[in-house]
Amino acid sequence: MSNLNKIKSTLQQYDQAHILQFWDRLTEDERKSLLQDISEIDIEEVCSYFKRAVESLAEDQEKLDNRLKPIPPHLYGAVSRTSPALLSSYEETGLIQVSESKVGVLLMAGGQGTRLGSSKPKGMYDVGLPSHKSLYQIQAERIKRLTQLAQESTGKTGRITWLIMTSEHTMEPTLNFFRKHNFFGLNKDDVILFEQGLLPCFTFDGKIILDKQYKVSRAPDGNGGLYRALRDRKVLDEIERRGIKYLHAHSVDNILVKVADPVFIGYCVQKGADCAAKVVEKAFPSEALGVVCNVDGKYQVVEYSELTQKTAEMRNNDGRLMFSAGNICNHFFTLDFLKKIAYKHEKELKLHVAKKKIPYVDASGNLCIPEKPNGIKMEKFVFDVFSFSENLVVWEVNRDEEFSALKNADGAEKDTPTTARKDIYSLHEKYIIAAGGNFESTPAVCEISPLLSYAGEGLENIVKTKTFTSPLLLKADDESSIVLNGNSP
Ligand code: UTP
Repeated sequence: MSNLNKIKSTLQQYDQAHILQFWDRLTEDERKSLLQDISEIDIEEVCSYFKRAVESLAEDQEKLDNRLKPIPPHLYGAVSRTSPALLSSYEETGLIQVSESKVGVLLMAGGQGTRLGSSKPKGMYDVGLPSHKSLYQIQAERIKRLTQLAQESTGKTGRITWLIMTSEHTMEPTLNFFRKHNFFGLNKDDVILFEQGLLPCFTFDGKIILDKQYKVSRAPDGNGGLYRALRDRKVLDEIERRGIKYLHAHSVDNILVKVADPVFIGYCVQKGADCAAKVVEKAFPSEALGVVCNVDGKYQVVEYSELTQKTAEMRNNDGRLMFSAGNICNHFFTLDFLKKIAYKHEKELKLHVAKKKIPYVDASGNLCIPEKPNGIKMEKFVFDVFSFSENLVVWEVNRDEEFSALKNADGAEKDTPTTARKDIYSLHEKYIIAAGGNFESTPAVCEISPLLSYAGEGLENIVKTKTFTSPLLLKADDESSIVLNGNSP
C-alpha cells in the first residue's frame, strides 16, 4: 500500500477521512504541508483523547463535596505559621542545593496570553515599572541574585539551569528576545528553551478541524503539556546529565514569583517530598482559585465551580477556611517524580475541555469564522499529576509577598499591568521600611532591582535612616554595565 493509501486508511478507521477532502485541488507544497501535519499527529491517540475529554465534560458537572478532605496539617506548612529559625533552616537547605547545582527552574511560558491581548509572549511584557524591565528580565535577575546568595552562604558557586517551555507561537520571539538582551547577564548555556506540543481541535461530534484546506487546526496542549515536552524534547535527559535533582516549576505571569525559592525548596527537601504546591490562602470562599485538597484519598486541585457554596464556606476552629490552599501554578518536583510522570503516567493525565469559536474551512474550502462555539480545544494541566505523588506537601506563602498574576489588560478588575506594578511597589516599600528607610509620602512608587535584593535582604546599608521620594529605583552597583539593548531605565 502506498504511503498516502496507508494514511487514508488510518484516517478512515478513525472517522477522519475529511482531512484529505481537498487533496485533489492542493498544490504539491500544500500536500506536503498537510502530510507533515498529519505525520505529527497520533490519530489513534488524539481520537481517544477526544472520547475521554467528552466523558470528562459529563463528569465535571458533579459536585465533589462528599468526597473532599483538606490537606492534613503535617503536610501543610505556611510561612506565617513557621518560626524564623525553622524558616532559616529551610532557606539554608535550599541554598545548599543551589550551590551544588541541584536546582533547576521550569518556566511555563507557552500560553497564548489571550486575555492580556498583547501580540508578544507574556514574558516579554513590560508592566511599566520605573526600570521598564520585562517579566523575563525580572525572573532572570532573581536567578542571578540567588546564585550569588547561595555562593555567599556556602562558599560554593552553583548553576541554576533555567528551562523555559515555549510553544509554536512563543518560541521564536522568546529566543530572539533573549539573544537581543544577551540572556540578561546569565550564562547562555544555562538557559534552555524547548517547545511544548500541540493537539488538534475537534468539532463537537469528534471531527478534527481544518483551518486551511491543507492545515489542521491545532492549539498548545496546555501547561500540563510540560511532561510530554520534557520527555519528547529530551529535556529530562539534559536535566539528569547536569545532576539537577529538584525543579521549581511556575507560570510566567506572576510578577512577584520567587524564582527557585530556597525556602520552598528547602521545605520540600526536608520533608522528603516528591511533589509540592506553593499556595496562597484563599481570600474569600467564592474566590476563583482552585484549591489543593484530597479527593477519595488522592491529591488534586478542585475548582470553585466543583464545590457547593456550603463546602466552600466551611471553616476550621481557628477561623480559616477549611479548603483554603489556593493553587497558584507554582510547584516543586523531584527529577525522579518528573520521570515517573513522563514515562509512566503522561497518557493518563486528565483532559480539560474548552468550548471555543474555532475558525474552520467549510465543505467548499472557504474559511469561516464562527460566531458561537463550534468545537473544543483540549488541554492538560500541570497540577493534574498530584494524584501520582507519594509524598505531596503544600507550602502556603503570603500573597502580598509572592503572588500577583498578570492575566488581563488594564481596565479589568484584577490581575492587570496596573495591579502588578502596585504589588511590586507595595512589597518593595515594605522591604525598604523593614531595612530602616522611609518615604516622604506613601504609598510610594519604588522598585528594587532583583540584582540588588532577591527578597528584601541586604538593603540596610543603602537605605537605613534615609528618606526617599517617589519614584525610587534602587539598582545594583554594576547594573548599568549589563547590556540591555533598548531596555535600560
Ligand atoms: P493561563 O492558563 O493563565 O493562560 O496560563 P495564558 O496563556 O497565560 O493566558 P490566557 O488564558 O490565554 O489569557 C498559566 C501559565 O501556564 C502557561 C502560561 O504561559 C502561563 O505561564 N501555559 C498555558 C503554557 O505554558 N502552555 C499552555 O498551553 C497554556
